[in-house]
Amino acid sequence: MKSPGNTLRFSTKAIHAGQKPDPLSGAVMTPVYLTSTYVQDELGKNKGYEYSRVNNPTRDALEANIAALENGRHGMAFGSGMAAIDAIFRLLKPGDHVIVSDNVYGGTYRIGKFVLEDYGLQFDFVNTTKLDLVKKSIKKNTRMLFIETPTNPTMEITDLSAIARLAKQRKLITICDNTFATPYLQRPIEHGIDVVVHSLTKYLNGHSDMLGGIVVTNNEKATERLRFLQKATGGILSPFDAWLCLRGTKTLAVRMERHGTSAMHIAQWLTQQEKIHKVHYPGLSTHPQYKLARRQMKNFGGMISFDLGSLAAARKFLKRVRLCALAESLGGVETLISHPVTMTHASIPAAQRRKIGVTDGLVRISVGLEDVDDIIDDLEQALRGR
Ligand SMILES: Cc1ncc(COP(=O)(O)O)c(C=O)c1O
Repeated sequence: MKSPGNTLRFSTKAIHAGQKPDPLSGAVMTPVYLTSTYVQDELGKNKGYEYSRVNNPTRDALEANIAALENGRHGMAFGSGMAAIDAIFRLLKPGDHVIVSDNVYGGTYRIGKFVLEDYGLQFDFVNTTKLDLVKKSIKKNTRMLFIETPTNPTMEITDLSAIARLAKQRKLITICDNTFATPYLQRPIEHGIDVVVHSLTKYLNGHSDMLGGIVVTNNEKATERLRFLQKATGGILSPFDAWLCLRGTKTLAVRMERHGTSAMHIAQWLTQQEKIHKVHYPGLSTHPQYKLARRQMKNFGGMISFDLGSLAAARKFLKRVRLCALAESLGGVETLISHPVTMTHASIPAAQRRKIGVTDGLVRISVGLEDVDDIIDDLEQALRGR
């Protein structure tokens, strides 16, 4: 079988890109190359591999696979989404300023404010759904625009093409955390974004059984530096986790279809429940960026958040769910439910949380692949118990 190129359609690439039958045995599945080192023929002559921190055939296959799905040339996989985000910020120098979506994953806020500011980087968290605010926040030393869309947990949508255009005019490098959408729903590079980052831990793997991160880009300079950072700092993805994720990406298209259909059904059901104050889902016509989401996403994804009005109400509800598992993380086959204020977003100061709408009563649900009526039955019985 020839190595499939970028002309193939998404589901085909998801299954084949980056993978060739094993040259030794013809095995259809890429083997897990559990090796730290590789024998060399003579000094300076090897088969392209020297040491697994630098590269490994299983990791290479995953990097090529996801790069193809994002329509990018290069992929660099790391040991977690945060390790990937850390590597991206290391493209900058002390004194550089970064604008980040104010509604980002709490860990992105934490690494900026509580780790990297100590090393001379400057961070401003701005509502990137408002282009005027972004323009006003650009300073002389701004070098990077880091957006997340949809955001975690209030599902705000940033206009990828508009951000990319603005950044090009102002010579800023653009990054998009595409974890919530996945390349099946949106491909930021096609909108002009320079670099895409994912927590592989979520939908790309899809089975809640590994942690990982990846950076995809067409930017050669960034690629060279990121590959150097993989080697120099060592926060790379293990061969076994790369293999698990490679198995996950094969079913990404079918999973994302089902996540999206079920989430839409649940979001509509949630809006009809008296005890629920607000539902955040970009597929609802009441969502402030509904039209933009329709334009730049294939469907609206599997993530919903909703407000129960108070911490006490959220606590009671979360104690009563049975099928929906109370847990951090998202994007797996099973439905996970969480409370951003005390879990994923606990590291964000309360005042900042209030500013971005992460209220005490907010509950986030990652809609899984169970029968949607079973998920609704569970939510219904948990609501009734309040
Ligand atoms: C949007 C987003 N980006 C990045 C991360 C960090 O990824 P990881 O947990 O794999 O380090 C998360 C984790 O929840 C996330 O939700």
